[in-house]
Amino acid sequence: MQNLSRRRVLTLGAALGLVGVADPSKAWAWSSANSIAATDTVTDPWSVWDDATDPLVASLLDNGQIPAVNTAFDSWVNNGDPLPAALPAALVTYLQQVNTLPSWADQTKLARAAQFNKRMSMYLFLLYGLGSGIMSTVIPREARNVYWSAGGAVMQSRAAKTFTYGYDLSALDAFQPTGHFVVTSNKTRLTHAAVRHLLPQSPAWRAVTNDQDFIPISNGDILVTFHSLGTFVYGKLKAWGIKMSAAEEDAYLHQWQVALHLLGVRDDFIPASWAAAQQQSAYVLTPIMAPTPEGINLADVLLNLTSSVDLGVTKGFQREFARYVLSDKIGDWLKLPRDLVSRSVIELGWPAYVAFREGLSPIIPTTFSLFDQFVRGLAMLFLNNGTSATYTPITIPTGNRPA
Ligand code: HEM
Repeated sequence: MQNLSRRRVLTLGAALGLVGVADPSKAWAWSSANSIAATDTVTDPWSVWDDATDPLVASLLDNGQIPAVNTAFDSWVNNGDPLPAALPAALVTYLQQVNTLPSWADQTKLARAAQFNKRMSMYLFLLYGLGSGIMSTVIPREARNVYWSAGGAVMQSRAAKTFTYGYDLSALDAFQPTGHFVVTSNKTRLTHAAVRHLLPQSPAWRAVTNDQDFIPISNGDILVTFHSLGTFVYGKLKAWGIKMSAAEEDAYLHQWQVALHLLGVRDDFIPASWAAAQQQSAYVLTPIMAPTPEGINLADVLLNLTSSVDLGVTKGFQREFARYVLSDKIGDWLKLPRDLVSRSVIELGWPAYVAFREGLSPIIPTTFSLFDQFVRGLAMLFLNNGTSATYTPITIPTGNRPA
């Protein structure tokens, strides 16, 4: 779609610490040999958007058709649902092509991933919610995009929509006709296409962003976010000593590979193994994390949303737990307050809680019920959104956050 501007290559290369400004040609060097496509090619994913989707959504927005599409989407929830009759013909043609799993999707692995998600659910709620959710606020481009898009002004509903995605992905029938995930992914992909068209029209976003000449949410950006979700969670589960069979690890990755495909990421960018994912994460995510005023604000709003339900712990404890899973460097960037007493409880108590829960130690730690209430409270917050009347469907935005 767009050509990668020289200015952006220089910015990117410098941000990655990869190149001197004199050598922009080396800005991207991750070979696709370790991707699903297994082609030993090098294409910069920050110069790839979503050609199949973006022009279509831009025209639906320009023609004022999105509100009617959102209404029609109300009846399109299950993977097995027929496409709504009231959709514009071009959107029907598009959805007929993309509303399906990739040829390489493996139902056995997806079923195993579903069982794994169920077994890991307590850890997943915690890590996606307090880990990945807060990490997204130190990914500068994502923080600014989320803050200045329409949903940035109504974070409770935006967080609820994101929960919808996580809930649908983690459900036992996620990829079955009764599940929702394929439909939810398509709605998300369309939402991202809308943001690509809308955000560059936002004077407020243009004023703060350092990439005015860059269309938001490229394939590279989506990979970064994937690493803040799947790769981060996988690394934490391993670091906490949680037992996973090789088949479970592979299945958990596979579920994310399919999810990335459904969001429009090209196969030659999708890592084929956890080793490749971790290598890509170190390359694309670690070097770009940084605080922004928008991210600091979003982190505070998100953490306040979580502490609005009773987790049986203080606000200080909750902020320290976020620091514990993400690092004090990120906690300092986000100006999360310190609570050193809670921190020592967490540092001693959490590993003991995990060891007992996982059957690695017979000793019930004295702080067991504290941690148990905390993780169960977070799980309920997540599950209530996914299963109750508060279920918040994903809708395609038609504007940006007002300045
Ligand atoms: C919307 C998930 C990557 C920015 C959404 C929504 C979901 C979602 C579920 C719909 C909820 C809503 O409308 O609020 C994901 C996943 C990603 C990803 C799973 C990658 C694995 C990104 C990236 C960016 C981004 C890389 C920006 C750099 C946005 C924005 C919205 C959005 C601005 C629209 C919010 C609005 O309606 O105002 N995303 N996203 N996303 N996403 Fe993403």
